[in-house]
Amino acid sequence: MSAEKALHHCAPQPSQVRQFPEGFLWGTATSSHQVEGDNRWNDWWEYEQAGRLPQVSGEACRHYQLYERDFDLACSWGHNAHRFSIEWSRIEPSAGHWNTDAIAHYRAVIQALKQRGLEPVMTLHHFTNPAWFTRSGGWLRSDSARLFARYVAYVVKHLGAEVKYWLTVNEPTVYVMQGYINGEWPPCLKSSWVKAIIAFRNLAGAHVAAYRVLHRCCQDIMVGFAHNAPLVVPCNPGRKRDRMTAALRDLIFNRSFFYLIGALPQHMRRTANLDFIGLNYYTRAIVYSANWGMRALLGRVCRSSHHSDRGPISAAGWEVYPPGLGAVLEKFSTFGIPLLVTENGVATDDETLRRDFIIQHLESLAEALGRGVNVLGYLYWTLMDNFEWTLGTEAHFGLAAVDFKTQERLPRPCVEAFRCVCRENRLSPVSR
Ligand code: FCB
Repeated sequence: MSAEKALHHCAPQPSQVRQFPEGFLWGTATSSHQVEGDNRWNDWWEYEQAGRLPQVSGEACRHYQLYERDFDLACSWGHNAHRFSIEWSRIEPSAGHWNTDAIAHYRAVIQALKQRGLEPVMTLHHFTNPAWFTRSGGWLRSDSARLFARYVAYVVKHLGAEVKYWLTVNEPTVYVMQGYINGEWPPCLKSSWVKAIIAFRNLAGAHVAAYRVLHRCCQDIMVGFAHNAPLVVPCNPGRKRDRMTAALRDLIFNRSFFYLIGALPQHMRRTANLDFIGLNYYTRAIVYSANWGMRALLGRVCRSSHHSDRGPISAAGWEVYPPGLGAVLEKFSTFGIPLLVTENGVATDDETLRRDFIIQHLESLAEALGRGVNVLGYLYWTLMDNFEWTLGTEAHFGLAAVDFKTQERLPRPCVEAFRCVCRENRLSPVSR
């Protein structure tokens, strides 16, 4: 589409325009292991090579080399922000030894973002650990938080002046469930509840230690973590057991990490150790419990189609439920600090579904803004198809498809609708 046509395409009809706040952040999110390629110093790589994981990341999107080209795309799509993660294992490939080339690389990445008008939102830990760290006990080590803080201190010394938005860890609850209970991700332990609790507590300690290190070095920064926040609802609200299951799940999956780091909703105390909350919203979990008992009370996710408002199911098996984004934003607004949608996306090959997904989630977000919720921005997961953990390259979340043989990026049609919203900073009836 020509620029002129694109502009016309964006033209709103005044009555139903929804304006986003000035300076609202628009963009996408990625993570190092999923896009960079050749991440041979981390535990995922080690487990992949040992045949302990179903997929291998290999060269992924070769983003470590192609990042400028990828940021050109984001810039041409009207974005003004980008979330990415830096790879601890590249920066500290063996304990206490720093790779100055890696830190120089990430400085260049940040500069490349800024040159294109993209605000960097930087994650320090997105599921992967240095292989040496995992081999020696990983998050079960009693000094794991200290080791993480040492890495953060090195990073902030070199990149501190460049970045405003910092995310310490990504989805600690998901990470621990997958690594210590479901056994699907390194360290691939199954039903290790005690170890899961130890790792979880150490991750919370790591967040707090990183928060302090970051604030000791830099004044005007915002530090948060990215939380996976499904909307948890009971399957049958009239049934006490289902209500208890939903409440328990919500406590464990949506609240526990906040409590551990000392962040409590405003009415309970002042929120500590957190300047903003990163929310990764994908789906609604309709939960039920078949019987009483502690384990049963954690419940199961209901897959039945008898829920009349059930949305379509994505290729990843997740229900598409846009009103959940607004509901989750409202729920976390009780902490009294700004929120940032750090991930929201859909795995699909149906481009109408993807476009509707984005627009409907933005409508839900706009409604939350209208109710007074403080949201800093919206980052779609993800810039381009990439290595989706145990699903490999077959889960298509990207705004661009990737030909993994040639590394060509192929923008998808929804880029246009999203570009209109980002450029105009508003949702118009046309984008809907
Ligand atoms: C999130 C992860 C991200 C990606 C998306 C689909 O839970 O943070 O790395 O896998 O899911």
